[in-house]
Amino acid sequence: MNDVALDVRPSAQFRHLYQPPKIAGDFAGKHIITVEQFEKTDLDSVMRTATALRERVLRRDGEVVKLCEGRIMASLFYESSTRTDMSFQAAMRRLGGSVIFGSNGMQFSSVYKGENLADTIRAAGCYADLITLRHPSEGSSFQAAYYLDRLNEKILKPCVVVSGGDGIGEHPTQGLLDLFTIADQKGSLDNLTITLVGDLMYGRTVHSLAKLLALDEAKNVKLCFVSPPSLKMPDTVLDFVQGRGIEVYETSDLHEVLGESDVVYWTRIQDERFARKADYEAVRDTFIMTPAVLNQCKRDVILMHPLPRKHEMGTYNDHDILDQNPRTVYFQQMENGMYVRMALLAKVLGADV
Ligand code: NCD
Repeated sequence: MNDVALDVRPSAQFRHLYQPPKIAGDFAGKHIITVEQFEKTDLDSVMRTATALRERVLRRDGEVVKLCEGRIMASLFYESSTRTDMSFQAAMRRLGGSVIFGSNGMQFSSVYKGENLADTIRAAGCYADLITLRHPSEGSSFQAAYYLDRLNEKILKPCVVVSGGDGIGEHPTQGLLDLFTIADQKGSLDNLTITLVGDLMYGRTVHSLAKLLALDEAKNVKLCFVSPPSLKMPDTVLDFVQGRGIEVYETSDLHEVLGESDVVYWTRIQDERFARKADYEAVRDTFIMTPAVLNQCKRDVILMHPLPRKHEMGTYNDHDILDQNPRTVYFQQMENGMYVRMALLAKVLGADV
């Protein structure tokens, strides 16, 4: 799908205008738009539910399909997606719910006639119980939450939004599935050195993951941020992480930290976010993961990637070799995404899980 031509309102202002509700132990009826809504106990609860739902799916527990029976999710993706959109859809269907879409993936919805985001959200809010939104503007999910709260005062059936990524802002559900995968693969987060590599400036997945890793200081996680100088982790994320007492090491030299990392999280340079092509060209080949680079890592390292992958993971041949290595866990990330999203959907829609 080509990304839809947009009336892009200044969504960023909603990041300041709208204060998202804290989860505080109760997910029912809450929008999920930033990981800053979570505390450690909320994370534990999502992780526990995702684990339980995974077991139930694997043993084909027929009751799983009743948890969200009769509920409707609207999938509003204004930006390309493969895994996030499909796993949300699969999650909703496995819970017994159903999914509706804007006409032809938004292309022939009223967006095409110039309708703004707020009105499209209001329309979906009238029909669905929950909206999954992906949009190129940072703050768009805050904007959706703001307008849904106002809509919900007028209509009979309330609706919530769950972000599927807001521009260069956050990707909270990806952060949760990444955290789940790290804990699942390593047994716990205790004392791990976790290295995030690549486009830390525009990559929304690393923004959410870094903040989530900082929520539990007692785990003694150490974070290494490796990027070209022009693509460093934004100060807002750094402040959040360091403000919670987490040790952070920033460098543009991968080899300083590769050999001591327990988790290596590779990312794509987000070419679509650059204002000038020359700026992208200058950094596009800075970090390339290949089988030879993986061999320089600890024997029990896990290599993660949110996908899609391009040349930052080498050639197609490199992909094949990397994929066969037990240290690469990006396919497990993909699968876990569905269980984690099942947990979130069930909780937000008030199912008894
Ligand atoms: C990422 C995204 O869209 O932010 N992909 C994903 O959701 N799994 C990462 C990317 O596009 O590079």
